[in-house]
Amino acid sequence: MKMWDSFRSVARFAPIEWDATSRRLAKVASVDDLRRLAKRRLPAGVFDYIDGGAEDERTLGANSSDFATVEFRPRVMRDVSRLDTSTTIFGTPAAMPVILSPTGFTRIAHSQGELAVTRAAARAGVPWSLSTMGTRSIEECAEANPTGEKWFQIYTWKDRGLVEELVGRARRAGYGAVWLTVDTAVLGRRERDVRRGMTLPPKLGPATLVDGAIHPGWTWDFLQGGPITFANIVGRHDEDGSTAITLADHVARQFDQALSWDDIDWLRSIWDGPIVLKGIQTVADAKQAVSMGVAGIGLSNHGGRQLDDAPTPVSLIEPVRQEVGDQATIICDGGIRRGSDIVKAIALGADAVSLGRPYFLALGAAGEAGVDWLLDFLRSGMERTMALTGCRSVAEIDRDLVAWKR
Ligand code: GLV
Repeated sequence: MKMWDSFRSVARFAPIEWDATSRRLAKVASVDDLRRLAKRRLPAGVFDYIDGGAEDERTLGANSSDFATVEFRPRVMRDVSRLDTSTTIFGTPAAMPVILSPTGFTRIAHSQGELAVTRAAARAGVPWSLSTMGTRSIEECAEANPTGEKWFQIYTWKDRGLVEELVGRARRAGYGAVWLTVDTAVLGRRERDVRRGMTLPPKLGPATLVDGAIHPGWTWDFLQGGPITFANIVGRHDEDGSTAITLADHVARQFDQALSWDDIDWLRSIWDGPIVLKGIQTVADAKQAVSMGVAGIGLSNHGGRQLDDAPTPVSLIEPVRQEVGDQATIICDGGIRRGSDIVKAIALGADAVSLGRPYFLALGAAGEAGVDWLLDFLRSGMERTMALTGCRSVAEIDRDLVAWKR
């Protein structure tokens, strides 16, 4: 009897979780865990498209590992009983200084694709971005997220008329800012995709069928979702995703390699809201952007997917801030994996961070609930870091809070 009492005093049985997604997420504690889960659930080619980077993937790794070279100078005993992670980005309130970056092909991770991501962003109170290569349309995303802040991303296609049409649709649907991606004159060589012959839509060869069979959850969802296309240009362009083509071929044929600083005036003539240049990688280009009246500097190397050995966004924040002062909003895009990374980027001088791969992996790992999980993880991580470093508001996160490790 005694033994039974002792056993009862220590035994704790968690209630059975019937929902498979909640069961999966209950074991996740970090973005790394989400990545592992996504790797298990997604066909290898899909996982590698999301997870991979250019060439030797050194920049992909450095984007995150450079955050580990920044350490805190925490202040204590500052009454952190009330914390406020909120901020404003281009005059619009955001619950935290986080933007969801545009990602192409989002439906390959989950049939809801961009709709799931934009709904989660709305719930978390942060801006979300739709890619030109998105797989849900400008209008259906606006319907799914009518009140939250939405940004639209463009590449400069050779067909400028089509870009202008898309930007007009984004304005009418209530999108508040435009990212112009400037780091993709040609596609970076993502060798995982080269090896797998990655195309959109994914080609149905024997290898895909075997892969599909061993990832039944993804396959079932994929088959129910209908064909994946570039939803914004369906019927408007030969290459709308309805015939399999590699991304590198698409970029080579459709993107305008002649993109230059003169095009900023063109963009301004078709869009009167804030423009963010996504892919600024030097102080000189940040200075040039500001001299041309660009509102936002997106420090980014495209998540390590374009030029390998490009500088990391976190290493650029401080020199760019010193150069441009308060003349531009600085967004650090690349390598953010925790709330503490957000605090570090803000301390170094960024106004906000932006991230894509983590939510894409979250979507693959657990669908819309996965994206909710990630945004909650980032917010609570930011709060915890603020509490442990003595910052009660975003305004209190200043340069004295961090130092580069020697
Ligand atoms: C598209 O922007 C990609 O990086 O694959």
